[in-house]
Amino acid sequence: MAVALFWVEAGSQVAPPFKAQDPGARQTPSKSGTSFADLTPAQHQLFIDGHQVFNEAASVQGTMPATRPGLGPRFNLDSCGGCHAHPHHGGTSPKLNPQVELATREGATNELPSFIQADGPVRVARFKFKHDGRRDDGVQALFTISGRSDAPGCFLMQPNFKRAAAWDNLSFRIPTPMFGAGLIEAIDDDAILANSRTDDAKKFSFGIRGRSNGAGRPNVNDNDHTISRFGWKAQVKSLELFVAQAFNVEQGITNDLFPQEIEEAATCRFTTTPESTTHIDASTPLGFASDVAKAAFFIRFLAPPVPVPDDESIVRGRMLFGEVGCTLCHTPTLRTGHATLAFLRDKEVKLYSDLLLHNMGPGLADDIKQGRAQGDEFRTAPLWGLGDRFFLLHDGRTKDLLEAISAHASRGDWRYPPSEANEVVATFNRLTEIDKQHVLNFLRGL
Ligand code: HEC
Ligand code: HEC
Repeated sequence: MAVALFWVEAGSQVAPPFKAQDPGARQTPSKSGTSFADLTPAQHQLFIDGHQVFNEAASVQGTMPATRPGLGPRFNLDSCGGCHAHPHHGGTSPKLNPQVELATREGATNELPSFIQADGPVRVARFKFKHDGRRDDGVQALFTISGRSDAPGCFLMQPNFKRAAAWDNLSFRIPTPMFGAGLIEAIDDDAILANSRTDDAKKFSFGIRGRSNGAGRPNVNDNDHTISRFGWKAQVKSLELFVAQAFNVEQGITNDLFPQEIEEAATCRFTTTPESTTHIDASTPLGFASDVAKAAFFIRFLAPPVPVPDDESIVRGRMLFGEVGCTLCHTPTLRTGHATLAFLRDKEVKLYSDLLLHNMGPGLADDIKQGRAQGDEFRTAPLWGLGDRFFLLHDGRTKDLLEAISAHASRGDWRYPPSEANEVVATFNRLTEIDKQHVLNFLRGL
């Protein structure tokens, strides 16, 4: 890879001081987005069908060309693949935000909220509190189907984003990539817990403690009390659950797992519910599977990101990444358990995450509670595939790796304790500029 290292000593001339710089997202995107190599023919067909579901756009009644029915009444976009677009389907926000065009497609009368910009990240918005001061925490869909030619007679107001912005009542999330997510799903809880107990002394000296005095703590699924692991706060237990929820929350498509419309206004209902369900009358076994199940298998079968080959800078960067303490949260590898699918069984997962929640300080806190995650707690973001990501951190506030690293540090305030990452960031900041550059090169090679 191109290494920005030009510490030239030209005779007696003094070279300008070298400053480490984020090399930026890869110019040539990685090949992520393919399936595991060793799928059976039936699994491969499922991958293809699931991909199609993932990419299929929705319209209100399914009457627009090449669309499925069920969009809205409230929604954030009309397809999974539109938000999870880069570098390929299953990834994350593309460079140009498709939400801008969708706001007014088919005659829709949506006003574009100020935090949605053409060259900004795809965003989903939440309100922290309701009018009456009680906690909200929920997603507020950006758009409605009002005005669309396929939704005659439906009139809905968008949430009042202007007022929410003025009252500092908004928080944002950008899409997370899901290459290799099947491997993450197949990691035993025991492996996550055992990893949380390693390097105790070092974690303690770096101040990485977590709320319960372990180093970080898992989020937990309330139905079966096992560790949940997907989403920015590890708030969702499994891929199928995430898919089903995304269908309803992002697109307004009700399904077997989430059968009720989030918005039930009578004049805006053009379909029966659930809109997407098991295909009971299918003539083939694969046809029987619900679109939710198919999309979940598509994701499960997505191969993990492949890092660029090692060079000297990457090798040194990786070493420093460990030395300064980044690996105390960004665990380089975890192993899967005794998974049913052979290609997920007993495999190394090079995700660079411990899948635990950490107190990240008031600077990153989004004031949203999910499961056991408090307003300042986030899942250590898996860093595999980082080379392809344009937008960084849960709200996509920056494109710059150095800014993402410094955002890890913040002092405590009256609501939240100091970030667990403070000491690690301070150690990173003491590296020479050249060593910082090695770390950045390593990260953009992932
Ligand atoms: C409007 C944009 C948008 C659309 C449309 C969308 N997503 Fe997402 N997706 C997100 C955001 C934002 C997150 C992070 C959610 C969070 O943690 O709060 C996410 C996270 C996920 C994750 C979790 C990955 C991980 O490892 O944490 C999965 C799985 C997922 N989406 C699947 C889907 C599927 C399937 C669809 C279509 C049914 C879909 N998404 C549609 C924005 C979107
Ligand atoms: C205390 C645990 C912890 C430590 C230590 C830590 N991180 Fe993180 N890291 C996180 C969490 C949690 C997030 C997600 C935060 C958010 O989005 O608000 C994150 C996010 C990131 C991201 C953004 C990823 C994305 O998908 O947007 C990068 C890059 C990153 N970390 C790099 C580093 C580097 C480099 C170091 C060492 C200097 C480091 N981290 C140390 C917990 C940690």
